[in-house]
Amino acid sequence: MSKAWSGRFSQPTDKLVEAFTESISFDARLAEVDIRGSKAHAQMLSETGLISADESKSIAAALDSIGEMIRKGEMKFSSELEDIHLHIESELIRRLGDVGRKLHTGRSRNDQVSTDLKLYTRDAIDHIDQLLEAVQKAFVGRGDADLDIIVPGYTHLQRAQPVAAPHYWLAYVEKFQRDRERLADCRKRVNLSPLGAAALAGSSLPINRHRTAELLGFSAPAANSLDVSSDRDYLVEFTSTLALVAAHLSTWAEEWILWNTTEFGFLRLPDAFTTGSSIMPQKKNPDVLELIRGKSSRVIGAAQTLLVLIKGLPMAYNRDLQDDKRAMFDAYDTIVACLEVAPQIIAGAELRRDVIASRIDDGFLDATALMEYLIKRGVPMRTGHEVVGKLVAECEQRKCRLKDLTLAEIRSLVPATAAPLIDESVSSVLGSANAAAALVSYGSGSRERVKEQLAEWKKRLA
Ligand code: ARG
Repeated sequence: MSKAWSGRFSQPTDKLVEAFTESISFDARLAEVDIRGSKAHAQMLSETGLISADESKSIAAALDSIGEMIRKGEMKFSSELEDIHLHIESELIRRLGDVGRKLHTGRSRNDQVSTDLKLYTRDAIDHIDQLLEAVQKAFVGRGDADLDIIVPGYTHLQRAQPVAAPHYWLAYVEKFQRDRERLADCRKRVNLSPLGAAALAGSSLPINRHRTAELLGFSAPAANSLDVSSDRDYLVEFTSTLALVAAHLSTWAEEWILWNTTEFGFLRLPDAFTTGSSIMPQKKNPDVLELIRGKSSRVIGAAQTLLVLIKGLPMAYNRDLQDDKRAMFDAYDTIVACLEVAPQIIAGAELRRDVIASRIDDGFLDATALMEYLIKRGVPMRTGHEVVGKLVAECEQRKCRLKDLTLAEIRSLVPATAAPLIDESVSSVLGSANAAAALVSYGSGSRERVKEQLAEWKKRLA
């Protein structure tokens, strides 16, 4: 098979080199975007008179039929033809002869690869955005049912303050919203057309880059051919955003793995999304969540790989860039797989109200509410902190809770200046349920504030 670039060579390419340099084994999935790009290019060539309208039409028809052939798995791929771009072009030439030989006019594989990858990344962004929205909807969807459940909030994995359970769900919704916004922002930079940058310098032919940009739905052609043909920043941005999505998924998975333990006992995962043990009959393991946590490493690794790949490359195109696709596709596939299973786990898990309630008054979750009660009665914050700290220490000694102390006991344990400020109303902030209900600030974890946020999110995601 003669190669598209064999003109100046006197020896055939070594077989080892062909196997070493091929990318068809991983870039065949660009076939659809490659054909989209080539059809737009052919149309522009005919509009500018570089080829005839008839030629453009037969190229478009042949490309469609080649696309169909690839979709059906009927194209035989070989490393001799390197990549998907040369496979499609050589099939076009086999079918159309000289007309097929005109398609690559005013274009190089360098801008073609970049155009394909940008079209692919743009679709990938839109796809992931939809999947992220489904995850957000799954969290919001269980908000009403869980609104009356008070759970501990933690810092340092130590019990801190009580919150309504959906405060957690909406915390994840916020994180994934930021990821969606980052993707939308990245999309703006993806959406500039490389096509017509050719190898690196542009072309002496009267091509119309604005027209191909328009035909492919790009917002504009990129302004510098040298820059855009060497640019893979957008893949670093894309995979870095996916790395954050992966980190957020992993945080969620880790939290629910903990909550699903006998030690916590907060959560029951759906049977269909857990697995058993080959030896221990009682086991029901959170393997899916563990894999979500584990797979985040691949996505984070991909972002790293791409950054190292582009660092120190002189402009413009270098063959190093061929490997960008491996990292990008792996990050994309991995995130898609995780986002596809997540909504069903989120919607199907059950909070174990009784277990949570039986221990919700452990751990002095109401201590901060008691301190704020004192502050409201004129006790300086630092004094209130000290006083409640002493009460907690006393309770630990007596093995009781703050709400078990009588008013007289509380008064006798606080400094003389604070004692007269405390009356029976103190019981209204003691106990986790009261402490959670006492939260009033915007964005806080009380049932009332969370209910407002839930209503907001229902509107935003409708
Ligand atoms: N398959 C290659 C890639 O994905 C295309 C190489 C094009 N350019 C070149 N000068 N060899 O990057």
